[in-house]
Amino acid sequence: MSNFGAGEQACLRSVYAPPAAKTNWRLEQLTGHDQLRYFAYGRHALVAALQLAGVKDGDVVLLPGFICREVLGAIHALNARVEYYPVDTNLGLACDPSALPAAKAIVAVDYFGFAQDLVPFKQYCARSGAVLIEDNAHGLFSRDSDGRGLGTRGDLGIFSLRKTLAAPNGAAVVINNASLAAALPSQIPFDDVAPDATFLGKRRLRKLVRLLGTWPARTATTLIRIARWLKTGHTIPPSAAESETQLPPVEAPGAILLDVMRNTDVDAEIARRRELYGLLPSLLDPVRYQPLFAALPPGTVPYGYPFVADAEHANEAQKLLAKHGIECLHWPALPDAIAAAAPAHYRTIWMVSFLW
Ligand SMILES: Cc1ncc(COP(=O)(O)O)c(C=O)c1O
Repeated sequence: MSNFGAGEQACLRSVYAPPAAKTNWRLEQLTGHDQLRYFAYGRHALVAALQLAGVKDGDVVLLPGFICREVLGAIHALNARVEYYPVDTNLGLACDPSALPAAKAIVAVDYFGFAQDLVPFKQYCARSGAVLIEDNAHGLFSRDSDGRGLGTRGDLGIFSLRKTLAAPNGAAVVINNASLAAALPSQIPFDDVAPDATFLGKRRLRKLVRLLGTWPARTATTLIRIARWLKTGHTIPPSAAESETQLPPVEAPGAILLDVMRNTDVDAEIARRRELYGLLPSLLDPVRYQPLFAALPPGTVPYGYPFVADAEHANEAQKLLAKHGIECLHWPALPDAIAAAAPAHYRTIWMVSFLW
């Protein structure tokens, strides 16, 4: 890390120990209203969104082909049918919206916290009567070029809070189109069962990282991976085929989420993520490891640093990043129905993670 100053090193360290401060923040401050419900996982929030959209047995839901297979579990839970639409290399809708088939709902994804262009999706919904669900699982604090919060721009929005905040679980569905609010169910009580050992262990290690640097957290990760490899043959669990038909068993959000939100310093978190993003090209040469997005627009709060790489380049990138104690992951594990014939740009995206 010799070419980095103390500020940059502290920034990289923040992947393990993000800033926290008592701010009493809640998602309601972002939406400006309380027409939202919390869940454990984004998939549960998506089930709720689909129900609010009136999706029932046999109805069609349009999903992008570039999606992680876990999302399918939500559609399966309602016995609905998935049809896929293509996305282009910029991850926007790759077909004429008037060519899309009839559907009860269409899901548009703000990939990696970058705003999706919703104009063609809104055109489709205006023509077909489909409900637009904005999947903002990745970009909790992101805004589009008009300053509108991602997840608040479709009829319904979903968030996977746990992907941005250091919480064991946490997600939400948000109603943006008041005409859908009548069916909003009551909040499932928050589950105050003690968080699991992984979360508690990580929380303790975060404190150590602030004092000692990243090595305690990295050592723990290595030991856990070795143990997992000995037990299962995998250092990182592969995405299971069953995730296309199953949901995580516990739907209730953990009470700890409220505590994590209360201690979220939103401005510091936005600055941290944007700063990390700006630092990455000095670790991964952008000519060799091409960033997925050409620029970081002003309101964007990135989930991580996505870049394009084949298996060989990704392997090199992993080694380079490891020297600085950080990691990249392949995204997404595609649905079976898409994987076999997926175009190259669905299969070659990696992301440097900004949250341990
Ligand atoms: C785009 C997108 N939407 C929704 C989800 C579901 O979120 P969760 O894992 O919290 O269920 C994920 C991740 O699995 C995702 O990447």
